[in-house]
Amino acid sequence: MSKSASHSKDKNWWRQATVYQIYPRSFADSNGDGIGDLKGVTSRIPYLQKLNLDAVWLSPFYPSALADGGYDVADYRDVDPRLGTLADFDELLAELHKVGIRIFVDIVPNHSSNLHVWFKEAIDAKPGSAARNRYIFRDGKGVNGELPPTDWVSHFAPSAWTHESAMGGKHNQWYMHWFAPEQPDFNWNNREVEDEFLTTLKFWADRGVDGFRIDVAHALKKDLSEPLRSLPVFEDLEQRGNKGKGVLADRNELFQIYKEWRKLFNQYDPPRVAVAEANVHPDRVPLYASAKTLGQSFDFRFIDTPFEASSYKENVQDALKVAEKNKSSCTWALSNHDQIRHATKMGLNPAVNRKAWMLSNGTSHPLDMASGTQNALAATLFILALPGSTYVYQGEELGLHEVTDIPENQIQDPQYLRNNKIEKGRDGCRVPLPWKKTGSSFGFGTGGAHLPQPQWFADYSVEAQESDAQSSLGTYRQALALRKKLVTEEKIKWHKTKDVSVLHFSRPNGWHCITNFRAISYPMPKGKVLISSHPLQDGKIPAGTTVWFKK
Ligand code: GLC
Ligand code: CA
Repeated sequence: MSKSASHSKDKNWWRQATVYQIYPRSFADSNGDGIGDLKGVTSRIPYLQKLNLDAVWLSPFYPSALADGGYDVADYRDVDPRLGTLADFDELLAELHKVGIRIFVDIVPNHSSNLHVWFKEAIDAKPGSAARNRYIFRDGKGVNGELPPTDWVSHFAPSAWTHESAMGGKHNQWYMHWFAPEQPDFNWNNREVEDEFLTTLKFWADRGVDGFRIDVAHALKKDLSEPLRSLPVFEDLEQRGNKGKGVLADRNELFQIYKEWRKLFNQYDPPRVAVAEANVHPDRVPLYASAKTLGQSFDFRFIDTPFEASSYKENVQDALKVAEKNKSSCTWALSNHDQIRHATKMGLNPAVNRKAWMLSNGTSHPLDMASGTQNALAATLFILALPGSTYVYQGEELGLHEVTDIPENQIQDPQYLRNNKIEKGRDGCRVPLPWKKTGSSFGFGTGGAHLPQPQWFADYSVEAQESDAQSSLGTYRQALALRKKLVTEEKIKWHKTKDVSVLHFSRPNGWHCITNFRAISYPMPKGKVLISSHPLQDGKIPAGTTVWFKK
């Protein structure tokens, strides 16, 4: 059956893996059109290899009109011609496997693009037809159906309903979209939709894909019983939980779907793996991360945690408990393609309102770039020493900051464009990577970059850091190499420190990690230093520094 990876068949490889997220349009451009592509990724495999990764995760590279950065998929089983071909994908996969790097692809099952053949059929079809039943079409309210069927709100637009006429439909119905109007939600109560996604998963698994990242994994099932329930505010699933009975998300029926997926994954050797993007209450996470369902679920708690000892410790303790419940492993992440880069968050006064700051193009308050990058590195070494897998977002290894001053006419993100401009959007972390200090698009390609790169990118480029072991890139490379050797049982032990701003833990093999968050400087415990995110000063650990050592 499946082509299997040429490397180890360890079934548990994912439990403590380092997974590097590639946003393909912004990684490397092989043909000078300003858009990153699959051949670009293949050309940078030596770079990925030097990072000592276990896997890469590719954000969507499928045909898309880019209404939402590729998360509006027009064809789940093809490659966008601007990014390459299926043959390019196969080549990338084969080359990655040759050097022992596995590959995750992004599956977007909650919604398609409005350009998907099914949605085009649905728009042309009549109310009540099989074609419409693959999506969520309803009659409107009001005398002439001129009002949306419910008060549901969308992530990117005021209403989660758009009148079909906006897409050329002629039957006076509305269709539902939790994100942009160009992202109509599938009707997951329709078996045909379930089967279609099983076919898609099999398509990629048969090609040799090792894992799947499941976009908005909590939203596939909705309460579509009539009359549709009212939900005038954004459903706050993370804060209070809903016991599996949310209106638009986190419903118990979801797990039946994922159990079927799991059966499919387990037909492969080694079994295919998956990680859920589920923004739900921590109590619900084990359901997504169970060995019977997707196996892992992202833990986003560090993304919003201030760089501060007590909250870091609390996070770790909570997450370990949750993982224990379902025998999953933890998943740590500080950044991704939806978030302000963490170096920036950590260089900004925590009291600053980040939304407003971003809208001011980063001018309303000063950003301390150097200390942001330093704290970010300390945070990275902290999470890399924890049990579980770590998801690294492209560019964070360079200590990159958010690009805050993208001019309005170049903004691509619907979060800004559709959301009444109340959020600057996510383009600032999706700016093409700087590979060189100079030249067209800092070495990203030979023909510019699809989002503007600032001058300061020169200092953060791969070239500027390549031969400096103390640089952010140098530190990531060494830490990830060390981590491979040090990884051990998924347990930690906390050690007392003399300062509340200092956290110290160790793993069962004597691998110690100590982080000084804020204390002026802290005496280095006895042991052999393996790596330090920032140089020690007179044998002491300066603030914003993590040290790994062996006893
Ligand atoms: C996920 C993606 C995000 C996208 C959204 C809709 O949250 O990470 O980028 O906008 O889903 O697909
Ligand atoms: Ca290109």
